[in-house]
Amino acid sequence: MSIQIELQATIADLVVKGKGILAADESHPTMAKRFTAINVESTEESRRAYRSLLLTTPGLGEFISGVILFEETLGQKTDSGKLLPRVATDQGIVPGIKVDKGTLPLANASGDLITQGLDGLAERLAGYKEQGARFAKWREVYSISPHNPTQLGIDANAEVLARYAAICQALGIVPIVEPEVLLDGDHTIERCFEVTEAVQHAVFHALHRHGVEVEYIVLKPSMIVPGKAAQRKANPEEIAEKTLVQLRRSVPAAMPGINFLSGGQTPEEATTNLNAMNAMAGNAPWELSFSYGRALQQPVLQAWQGQPENSKAAQNALYKRAKLNGAARHGNYSAEMEKE
Ligand code: 13P
Repeated sequence: MSIQIELQATIADLVVKGKGILAADESHPTMAKRFTAINVESTEESRRAYRSLLLTTPGLGEFISGVILFEETLGQKTDSGKLLPRVATDQGIVPGIKVDKGTLPLANASGDLITQGLDGLAERLAGYKEQGARFAKWREVYSISPHNPTQLGIDANAEVLARYAAICQALGIVPIVEPEVLLDGDHTIERCFEVTEAVQHAVFHALHRHGVEVEYIVLKPSMIVPGKAAQRKANPEEIAEKTLVQLRRSVPAAMPGINFLSGGQTPEEATTNLNAMNAMAGNAPWELSFSYGRALQQPVLQAWQGQPENSKAAQNALYKRAKLNGAARHGNYSAEMEKE
């Protein structure tokens, strides 16, 4: 298969009406944090048990087209001995892989971070592809303060994202490009708009410089929202409207899909906001979907509590959130549906 046909096929399987992506790619420290909240020790075995539970959820493929995995998961198996990426594939879900190595402070840009992991990336990707991964994810983060992100931070992060995306495409792997503007802080929704617009403008400029074909990427952005501690809150219609204006200004129409991160929104908020966007989007050139981690998994962890006898309830919780977000993909979700 030529690289281009391979990329095209992955996009076709990933960007599907009514479906979105499950982000289950927490690094070891993040997974430990999630497990500590439910009094479960994070070990290779507990992570395997939990992620097996997620992927074997009956019917998950009705609403989930792709799953982002962490490196360790690619080689793990269910109790009955089936490799987890294979479990995903058998559900009609494309396996993907988080490939960045987290952030460090960016020198001479106080308060900004930069993501690590470009060294040896091509070799690692080739190995992940052999293990079944067809797409990858890389996250850059931007905090908002009166001085951040700096222009240096915006440019350096964009450059790294574009280099990652170019390496992925050269190997026939679809890159998810994730510039996450963080929710923390007391900034206004207008400030979030201004920062996100500058960030995405730099990202698409860098993608162009590096020859990345935007037809074969998925953008994973944050929504335009006020900071968590902001005085003035925003309703879903305002969030949807501002996010759509910003995306129309920044994102080429050739891009197939935009899959939002949840970033600390509650599961209900993330679903409601996505729904409002799809209800308002009209003839937007891209699919507006989800790539949620916490907003899909929080209720699952709560139901599971590390107890095998709770597995069924945990899977029901995942299926429910996936289904509700599936409805939000069509703008058909309502708060009433939470009670079903
Ligand atoms: P959240 O939806 O929990 O923000 O996670 C998505 C993700 O993959 C962050 O990189």
